[in-house]
Amino acid sequence: MSLIKDAAQAVMKKAIEVAPDAWMPGGRPDPLIERRQGLVGASVSRVDGPLKVKGEARFAAEFPMDGLVYASLVFSTIAKGRVSSLDAAAAESAPGVALVMTHRNAPKMKPSPLFLTKEKAAGGDDLPVMQDDAVHWNGQPIALVLADSQEQADHAASLIRVTYAVAPATTSFGEAKAKGTRTGVFQGEPLHTEIGDAEAALQAAPHRVDATYTTPRYNHNPIELHAATLAWQGDELHVHDASQGVAHSAWTLAQIFDIDEKQVHVTSPFVGGGFGSKTLWRHQVLAAAASRLAGRPVRIMLSREGVHRVVGGRTCTEQRVAIGAQTDGRFDALIHTGTVAMTPHNNMPEPFILPAKCVYGAGSFKLDVQTAEVDMLANTFMRAPGESVGTFALESAIDELAVALDMDPIALRLRNEPEKDPTTGTPFSSRHLAEAYRAGAERFGWQHRHARPGARREGEWLVGFGCATATYPYYRMPGGAARLTLSADGRVRVQIAAHEMGMGTATAQTQITAERLGLTMADVDFSYGDSTFPGLVLAGGSQQTASIGKAVMLACDALIEGLLKLADKASPLHGLKAEDVEARDGALVSREDPGRQQRLAHLLTAAKREDLTVEASAPPPLEMQHWSMHSFGAMFCEVRVNAITGEPRVSRFLGSFDCGRIINPKLASSQFRGGIVMGLGLALTEETQFDERNGRIMNPSLAEYHVPVHMDVPEIDVIWTDIADPHTPMGAHGVGEIGITGVGAAVANAVFNACGRRVRDLPIRLDDLM
Ligand code: MOS
Repeated sequence: MSLIKDAAQAVMKKAIEVAPDAWMPGGRPDPLIERRQGLVGASVSRVDGPLKVKGEARFAAEFPMDGLVYASLVFSTIAKGRVSSLDAAAAESAPGVALVMTHRNAPKMKPSPLFLTKEKAAGGDDLPVMQDDAVHWNGQPIALVLADSQEQADHAASLIRVTYAVAPATTSFGEAKAKGTRTGVFQGEPLHTEIGDAEAALQAAPHRVDATYTTPRYNHNPIELHAATLAWQGDELHVHDASQGVAHSAWTLAQIFDIDEKQVHVTSPFVGGGFGSKTLWRHQVLAAAASRLAGRPVRIMLSREGVHRVVGGRTCTEQRVAIGAQTDGRFDALIHTGTVAMTPHNNMPEPFILPAKCVYGAGSFKLDVQTAEVDMLANTFMRAPGESVGTFALESAIDELAVALDMDPIALRLRNEPEKDPTTGTPFSSRHLAEAYRAGAERFGWQHRHARPGARREGEWLVGFGCATATYPYYRMPGGAARLTLSADGRVRVQIAAHEMGMGTATAQTQITAERLGLTMADVDFSYGDSTFPGLVLAGGSQQTASIGKAVMLACDALIEGLLKLADKASPLHGLKAEDVEARDGALVSREDPGRQQRLAHLLTAAKREDLTVEASAPPPLEMQHWSMHSFGAMFCEVRVNAITGEPRVSRFLGSFDCGRIINPKLASSQFRGGIVMGLGLALTEETQFDERNGRIMNPSLAEYHVPVHMDVPEIDVIWTDIADPHTPMGAHGVGEIGITGVGAAVANAVFNACGRRVRDLPIRLDDLM
């Protein structure tokens, strides 16, 4: 069966690859892509900025409910085994306590479908937590307390006494690898590509580098802690969540509690940062179970420690990059292989080979990700999963090869620019990495770089320059849909089950709607963050803007068609079709005869209509198989390494991006800068301290897990090509994740240039450089 299915899919895939461009979504480029005076492309301020500044934007843990109780979790202190005794008597009689839930009294729940294994799945793991006495990771919730205040709940939780029967666990990565590994599978595809005999080509090449790079675990630390406020009404569950996928969460909760999808309503109007972490984890599920048991509305807000114990992060990687090259720099072999830690109960093998699949041409390739099973918290998606740590290894190795060849590292990269996608053979939809390098190098002053490490010293400080390529795919997932309602007052309401995690969704989509309908920003109300709205939209994969933008564009077209159908003989637009008119200044205007025009609202009122509602869905994203679609960037870093203390300081950073047309420069620069700041954390400060003896995370607080602070972040300059990709909606690519990619290598390469130390193990610490 699966053989037939696979064969059918292979035929389909080939057919999509070779089909004429015009058959693809984006095959006939949208004429408005080239319009340069519109709202799209303008630096419009956030429509929700005033709400946020005034504290009026309501987040998940801020919804009031009558009779609300607060939840606190107790976390296991062993990696694997059983709860052999649990004494909750003191907690149960503590002040304000409404309920203590453990495996003894928790309601039956079905396993949580794993994120991205089914269309609507949102679960971080599929373990039966609190369904029996088993412990599966160090930090697993084993009890949940409900009380009248958070302080009472936390206090009562501290009174619970637990003993365990400890079972042998695999908590060391080395031991896990020794037990055997498996090929990782990402989005249904094995993470394995071989073209030619790369090992033989490597051995035969006149020049080669071959090195191992390691990256640690990283934990998610969005500033808004993971939280939910929820209540049952009979068999209906209402959840105010901090979510990157409201419709996904609603469906998944329905599976877990064995109720209909329509019986779960999830809202999430504002999210204080997600980065891949705000899917469905234990806290929402257990809070919903406890709420049902207690018959009370529940608020759960994880502590910072709770986020580190319950919400997975980026797993550790060990990566080999080997490149064989000709004397002119051309690659004969590109090998990128390695192993990541994973669990059997999640779905995220950090796919670090994705950059090597598309960035360079080479005579042969060997790319492979193996997974080793560790008893730990399920790891998950974290901003540019794969690319952020994959580019660290790949782009460090390119720098090492440039040193070996005595070539400028930018020249070496450009020498290996491929004509077509090097591993699939499909054409690029839009690729202007060389332009990004040229513009970036000029603005950064790359010509002032000394090729010899340690050549520039200013007092105690050794100064170095480094660069690296950034890359992230263009994705558009199925499920984009939008509902538009024009009312007689001329206002348009847009409804989509989309998300605002701080990236400016509402602003960008308001721009798109207003431009397409010839309205002002103030005429458009964008509503989102509600699972009852149309669409199955993930704020992930840097794809939300394109996915819903396409649906909004189609809904705008449908609205114009609907209005023209209302135009009777009395209307100046009578008999015109959508392609005969354009929308501007609040009116539809005949292209041939601009004298024929009518305001949108008048078309409604003339037909005695109060409003007109249309819905549209985005077509399946076949363009992603027809073209090789990626964003690119050139990252430039200036580092100062203290010659006496070894302290590394990034003193300048520039990102030069090629992400298609930029919809809103003000919002996009924030995304680029935020990504780069997170990349500086990945390079220099962040690391989850994982105790390999017992699988315990040892630094679950911002005091000990160091995210970059203001003093760590220099002035960050961002520029972009702004060359539209004709094959995407609005000509745009996503900008949410690419900023973190390439940063680790740009920093490491600059450190090498400053002081001659090649650090292949992140984060780079001063003790590596003393
Ligand atoms: Mo992202 S890791 O797709 O939120």
